[in-house]
Amino acid sequence: MHPPRRILVTTALPYANGPFHVGHIMEYIQADIWVRFQRMQGNVVHFVGADDAHGAPIMLAAEKAGTSPEAFVAGIAAGRKQYLDGFHIRFDHWHSTHSPENTQLSQDIYKRLSKAGLVYKKPVEQFYDPVKGMFLADRYIKGECPKCGAKDQYGDACENCSSVYAPTDLINPYSTLSGAKPVRKSSEHYFFRLSDEACVAFLRDWIDVPGQLQPQVANKAREWLDGEGDKALGDWDISRDAPYFGIEIPDAPGKYFYVWLDAPIGYLASFKAYCAKNGLDFEGFLADENTEQVHFIGKDIIYFHTLFWPAMLKYAGPFYKVPTNVFVHGFITVSGDKMSKSRGTGISPLRYLELGMNPEWLRYYIAAKLNANVEDLDFNPDDFIARVNSDLVGKYINIASRCAPFLRNKFDGKLLSMEADGAGAGSLLDEVQSQAGEIGSLIDSREYGKALRQVMTLADSVNHYVDEKKPWEIAKRAGEEHQLHVVCTVAINAFRLLTLYLKPVMPKLAENVERFLNIPPMTWQDAGTLLPADHQINAYKHLMTRVEPKQLDALFDLPAAAPEEKKTVTAPAAPATPPPAPSPAPDGSSTISIDDFAKVDLRVALIANAEAVEGADKLVKLTLDLGTGTRTVFAGIKSAYAPDQLKGRLTVMVANLAPRKMRFGLSEGMVLAASGDGPGIFLLSPDSGAQPGMKVK
Ligand code: MSP
Ligand code: ZN
Repeated sequence: MHPPRRILVTTALPYANGPFHVGHIMEYIQADIWVRFQRMQGNVVHFVGADDAHGAPIMLAAEKAGTSPEAFVAGIAAGRKQYLDGFHIRFDHWHSTHSPENTQLSQDIYKRLSKAGLVYKKPVEQFYDPVKGMFLADRYIKGECPKCGAKDQYGDACENCSSVYAPTDLINPYSTLSGAKPVRKSSEHYFFRLSDEACVAFLRDWIDVPGQLQPQVANKAREWLDGEGDKALGDWDISRDAPYFGIEIPDAPGKYFYVWLDAPIGYLASFKAYCAKNGLDFEGFLADENTEQVHFIGKDIIYFHTLFWPAMLKYAGPFYKVPTNVFVHGFITVSGDKMSKSRGTGISPLRYLELGMNPEWLRYYIAAKLNANVEDLDFNPDDFIARVNSDLVGKYINIASRCAPFLRNKFDGKLLSMEADGAGAGSLLDEVQSQAGEIGSLIDSREYGKALRQVMTLADSVNHYVDEKKPWEIAKRAGEEHQLHVVCTVAINAFRLLTLYLKPVMPKLAENVERFLNIPPMTWQDAGTLLPADHQINAYKHLMTRVEPKQLDALFDLPAAAPEEKKTVTAPAAPATPPPAPSPAPDGSSTISIDDFAKVDLRVALIANAEAVEGADKLVKLTLDLGTGTRTVFAGIKSAYAPDQLKGRLTVMVANLAPRKMRFGLSEGMVLAASGDGPGIFLLSPDSGAQPGMKVK
């Protein structure tokens, strides 16, 4: 017997600027399955998460919301539990990077790095917003593209001509925070010497440790290390100037750690708080060379986790531990659409729960589509229905629902001994039992899809056995009770084993099966045994319903409920409240429900550019800035507006109108304007203060 493994498991710390989206939930499901599996193996696992609370975006979001950053992130944190509980994601502890533990650990690590000679200071000239009184990160600066002259381009790249440049190259730059013209200003910054020879050598070795990183991830990291010219590995700017929501750098007044320095340290801060609460030895656990430190993350943050983070830990020295594994997953897309971090489109996890959809359907579906590679995963509604209904319910649940009633009705719920009397069925149970090792190692290596396919193949074999034996016909024949008893005992034993294999993925269902089978919680080792003779099972209650296509329609069609109208998340699916009796609209036409109205995504848009369209005397081609990107819209307003008159003003657009191919190009939305019987077209505009991208409702 191996001694149990000791593992600290983390998932990336979500920014505390919004609720979880399905991308977060997917990551947690992946890690939670792994953790549950390790525990079923008898391994010791501590599974922690936290909110990533710091940084300028959160500081500014709080300001916009008229509250302090502390109160803002506390509000976000308060909303986490319902998601985690709802999807059976069982972190041992959830913390925040804005915490005493994280302050202490970040300052400690910084001091150690500094002592190791890996930190230096140098002045950096940057754009500064004199009105706002703060330095501007690139994303808060816009201006004209130095190559093509397109207006309102971000400081890193032009959306019009795709050229890449520095924010200081922009022509007529302005701060998106205040509109002010930014000035260049110098300030002392702290750098981590990532390019240090010894550090690079360490990282090269670390990346090459077999089995530690996925090959694709190791290749990426190696590419960064080997970069040359303007791709050469640079040192890392770890400081930011006040005002900043973050952790103060020791002995450097007015300087804060850049959020990405203290964010991964938040993994340890969360674990430390958990240890303190549970009387565990934080330093001792990490210092033990047999302890594994495992991070689950998405593909967009590989750089931080394979370069900065291991280097920081390495040079901080003991008791800190360099990561044992960084497990990277791809992104979840919805029906092929990449979901955007900021727009958070896609599936609303909360709405999923509110609709009473079974969280284990989603766990199963995501697991069935996950593998150990860095591949994107598409949530496809039809595929979801098929997998849940035909695999899960049709194959697996079906075994119990077909055989359990006979056992209860004819044999008082008691089983035969399968060791003594296999009646030719021994081979089936042998087959199911013999795959415990292989299925286990597939889950251990995060090949969940393969593991579940194997389980479903076994379910096919069991169903095949039941179909062949036809217990419902044996039951009608006199004198064949024993035969019926054997078939049902085999099927129920097989069902128990399949449940065991599915337990990391569907823990709640497994719990219900354990109650039904009248057995203690199963561990992986239990695959080596069968239920003993005379073991008595309980009455079968239906274990899982089918998903209905209309539930998916509801999931996609309707917006998530606004925060104040959120119902209890665990409530079972209630029929939607009937719409109120229609009251006549002003002109007597029929009414729509608020849900119908909410389908129209109205946004404030800045007319970044307007130009006449050759060959179309009614049309103006508008470039609309929504804050997150631009849209092209052809609007029939030329009779009322000269293009130049439109540039720079705000209006309202329908942002989710299906794009329409026109003779002159693709029109991606519609602007709102009023018109009557007489002449004149009157474009709508919001009151002053509205910002591009704001929702109109
Ligand atoms: N705060 C940083 C992480 C700091 S870790 C020390 C961050 N936060 S995040 O909220 O933007 O992302 C958190 C995790 O969610 C990341 O692992 C990210 O890759 C993952 N995902 C974000 N969108 C995703 C999908 N659409 N699909 C799957 N995972 C995605 O980055
Ligand atoms: Zn350009």
